[in-house]
Amino acid sequence: MAQRFNFYLPIALLLLLCLRESCCTSLNYLKSSMIKDKTEDVLLPNTSPTSSPQPFLPLLAPSPLIPFTNSTVPKLSGLCTLNFTVITSMMRVTSIDCMAAFAPFLANVVCCPQLEATLSILIGQSSKDTDSLALNGTLATHCLSDFEKILVGQGANEDLFKICPIRPSNLTEGSCPINNVIEFESTVDSANLLAACGKIDTLNECCEQVCQNAIVEASSKLAEKAYNLVSLYGSHVMSDLSTRVNDCKNIVLRWLASKLDPSHAKEVLRGLSSCKINKVCPLNFPNMSHVINGCNDGISNQTECCNGVESYVSLLQRQSFITNLQALNCAASLGVKLRKANITKNVYSLCHINLKDFSLQVGTKESGCLLPSLPSDVVLDKSSEVSFVCDLNDNIPAPWPSTSQLADSSCNKTVKIPALPAAASVQSSRHGINTMNFLLLLMVYAALMIM
Ligand SMILES: *[C@@H]1O[C@H](CO)[C@@H](O)[C@H](O)[C@H]1NC(C)=O
Ligand SMILES: *[C@@H]1O[C@H](CO)[C@@H](O)[C@H](O)[C@H]1NC(C)=O
Ligand SMILES: *[C@@H]1O[C@H](CO)[C@@H](O)[C@H](O)[C@H]1NC(C)=O
Ligand SMILES: *[C@@H]1O[C@H](CO)[C@@H](O)[C@H](O)[C@H]1NC(C)=O
Ligand SMILES: *[C@@H]1O[C@H](CO)[C@@H](O)[C@H](O)[C@H]1NC(C)=O
Ligand SMILES: *[C@@H]1O[C@H](CO)[C@@H](O)[C@H](O)[C@H]1NC(C)=O
Ligand SMILES: *[C@@H]1O[C@H](CO)[C@@H](O)[C@H](O)[C@H]1NC(C)=O
Ligand SMILES: *[C@@H]1O[C@H](CO)[C@@H](O)[C@H](O)[C@H]1NC(C)=O
Repeated sequence: MAQRFNFYLPIALLLLLCLRESCCTSLNYLKSSMIKDKTEDVLLPNTSPTSSPQPFLPLLAPSPLIPFTNSTVPKLSGLCTLNFTVITSMMRVTSIDCMAAFAPFLANVVCCPQLEATLSILIGQSSKDTDSLALNGTLATHCLSDFEKILVGQGANEDLFKICPIRPSNLTEGSCPINNVIEFESTVDSANLLAACGKIDTLNECCEQVCQNAIVEASSKLAEKAYNLVSLYGSHVMSDLSTRVNDCKNIVLRWLASKLDPSHAKEVLRGLSSCKINKVCPLNFPNMSHVINGCNDGISNQTECCNGVESYVSLLQRQSFITNLQALNCAASLGVKLRKANITKNVYSLCHINLKDFSLQVGTKESGCLLPSLPSDVVLDKSSEVSFVCDLNDNIPAPWPSTSQLADSSCNKTVKIPALPAAASVQSSRHGINTMNFLLLLMVYAALMIM
């Protein structure tokens, strides 16, 4: 674990220094500071804010930020027949969404959804030439490896396909019996599919499921093709069928991506994945016996209880950026767990726990960043400034669940979610240098915590 952080700790440190010294755009400084020795890190808090930004050491190693300003052209296998040119600009966006230092923290919400959409669009667009919506195993291996090399060459994290678990088999048809475009179009109601999914209503699709239903219907049609012998296998077939339907969904998405232009396809695919993302809380909840003990017995000692809750929440805060809707889910999950442990008093209100407290923080200050629930990308501008959208609404108290059951309430219009963070990012704005500063602090914080 420490190993991984060590890789970009120096970036964080020097950017923190930059922040203090207002020199963020000085790439030269970045490069030369990058190799600052780790032993100096310990001294960080004492770094004088007035010291001038002198290079610590001459440049010895390439800066991880260099690929963004000077992409390396990787040596490709020459064995992948996909045409990457068609999605050049999209791959660049993907590299930035998955950029080295931030990828682990943005994996669930930004990096992996964008990576998956890019792969679907790549294969979908290629199907116009090949008539095939899937790659065979050999081709998949070469293409995924080339794809990764291109992204990493542009600055994406080197462990990209560990952070986002994608394997060559994900580029094949899996167990879906159909991958040929002509067979596809003679099997599914493609006009209907395109009508439902050619343009999705990003605000309402997650609840109304117009496109999602059309995709399930099409995937089922494809999957059923494997069962012309029907009913011979009984329930065995049924469980098998659900896997097939799932694999066929990928084929359907690629077909959609072949019918739309790449930017349009991206909007649809990212919109659909955001529905999945926002339904859950992506955080891991470690052992909570400590909190439970502190808040037991009708919360006889409020200080002790809140200390426990706060330190527990601070563990969650180190994991990942999350969306505003995910934060609601996380608050609900934790609340339900506490209720199940017989803690029925609203400890969120007792201990002033806000939704933002579930996202990554700078230190212990209330400066969490909740991403909007709609898809967004990291942006890197010409002056190497990194930014992404935070939904910076005022602190919204975390809602305490009213029962010990986890209810899926996000689409239940009769359920009043208190002050839902302007769900769709209407009130969000893009934060440039501030976000960067924030991130840097955050990286330092995370790194120091782990070490
Ligand atoms: C970009 O990289 C190439 C190859 O490594 C190098 O020759 C060139 O000088 C670099 N350009 C800049 C502006 O760093
Ligand atoms: C790849 O696509 C681009 C843009 O559509 C086209 O100009 C180029 O000829 C294609 N390359 C191959 C090898 O098909
Ligand atoms: C995989 O597909 C490529 C391109 O369509 C083809 O040349 C190759 O023979 C196929 N390999 C196998 C093992 O089917
Ligand atoms: C890739 O395939 C594995 C199984 O081989 C599956 O568990 C995983 O969800 C797939 N990933 C994507 C992004 O579809
Ligand atoms: C949680 O921690 C407590 C005390 O540290 C321990 O007794 C308990 O077994 C742990 N529970 C789990 C599920 O790990
Ligand atoms: C409550 O707990 C705190 C911290 O554990 C402790 O310092 C304090 O004495 C306790 N108060 C009472 C009234 O027990
Ligand atoms: C919660 O309290 C009830 C009644 O007071 C008790 O029966 C139950 O065992 C308790 N559950 C836990 C997990 O402590
Ligand atoms: C919506 O929530 C209300 C109140 O909790 C509940 O009675 C109702 O059954 C829910 N409706 C659906 C469709 O889940």
